[in-house]
Amino acid sequence: MKTAIIGSGSVGTALANSFSRAGHQVVFAARNLASESLQQALSKNTSLSAKPPPAACSAADTIFLATPYAAVGEAIRSAGDLTGKVLVDCTNPVGAGFILLFGPDNSGGEEVSRLAPAAHVVKAFNTYGYENFADARYPGYGDLRPIMFLCGNDSGAKAVVASLASDLGFRPFDSGDITISRYLEAAAMLWIKIARVTGKGAGFTWAMLER
Ligand SMILES: NC(=O)c1ccc[n+]([C@@H]2O[C@H](COP(=O)([O-])OP(=O)(O)OC[C@H]3O[C@@H](n4cnc5c(N)ncnc54)[C@H](OP(=O)(O)O)[C@@H]3O)[C@@H](O)[C@H]2O)c1
Repeated sequence: MKTAIIGSGSVGTALANSFSRAGHQVVFAARNLASESLQQALSKNTSLSAKPPPAACSAADTIFLATPYAAVGEAIRSAGDLTGKVLVDCTNPVGAGFILLFGPDNSGGEEVSRLAPAAHVVKAFNTYGYENFADARYPGYGDLRPIMFLCGNDSGAKAVVASLASDLGFRPFDSGDITISRYLEAAAMLWIKIARVTGKGAGFTWAMLER
C-alpha cells in the first residue's frame, strides 16, 4: 500500500514510522523539503522519503492529512488532484484556548470533505495522541486492542483505513458517516484534556468491551 502523509510533525512522523515498520511504502507530501521536522524524520528512518505534495499524492493510494486544522485548506489545495483517493483526516479543529471550533452541527471532518469533494474522506487517527500511533501496544490485556474509531461516507475507503489501522495494532471500528466526526473530534478533546491538561500522560487509549 502506497501512503502519502501531509505533515511531518508529531502525528505525521509517528504514522510514517509505524506504517513503514508495517511494510507500507511511505512518502511525505512536503510543502518545504528543507523543513526541520521533515529532515529530522528522514534522518531517523532511512526508509522514508519526501516529495512535493502533487507528486507524493498522485502516486499514493491513501493520503493522511496531519497538519494543524488551520492549514487544511491550503494543504488540500496544494495536494493536486485527489479524485478517488482515500484521504484520512487526522486533524482536530482546536482553537486558541483549547476549544473545539465547531458546534453540534458541523465538524472538521465535514469541512475537509467539502474542501476535497473528489476524495473519499475518512476521519480516523484523531481521538488520542501521536504517542499511541507510534506504538499501539498495550501488553497485559489479552486480545483487547486499542480501538480506532473511524467514520466516512464511502464504505470502500473505510475498509482501506480499517485495514491500515489493523496493521498498526488497532481494532478498527466503523462509527458511521462523516457527520460522526462531530463526536470523534469531541472524543479527542476528552483525551487531550485528560492526557495533556490534567497531566495523566499519553499512555492510555480507548478500547471497547462487548457482550
Ligand atoms: N499531536 C497529537 O498528539 C495529535 C493527535 C491526534 C491528532 N492531532 C491533530 O493532527 C494534526 C497535526 O498535529 P501535530 O501535532 O502532528 O502537528 P505539528 O507537530 O505541529 O506538525 C504540523 C505539520 O503540518 C505541516 N504544515 C503546517 N502548515 C501546512 C500547510 N499549510 N501545508 C502543508 N503542511 C503544513 C508542518 O510543516 P512544516 O514542517 O513545514 O512546518 C508540520 O510538518 C493537528 O490537526 C492535530 O490537532 C494531533
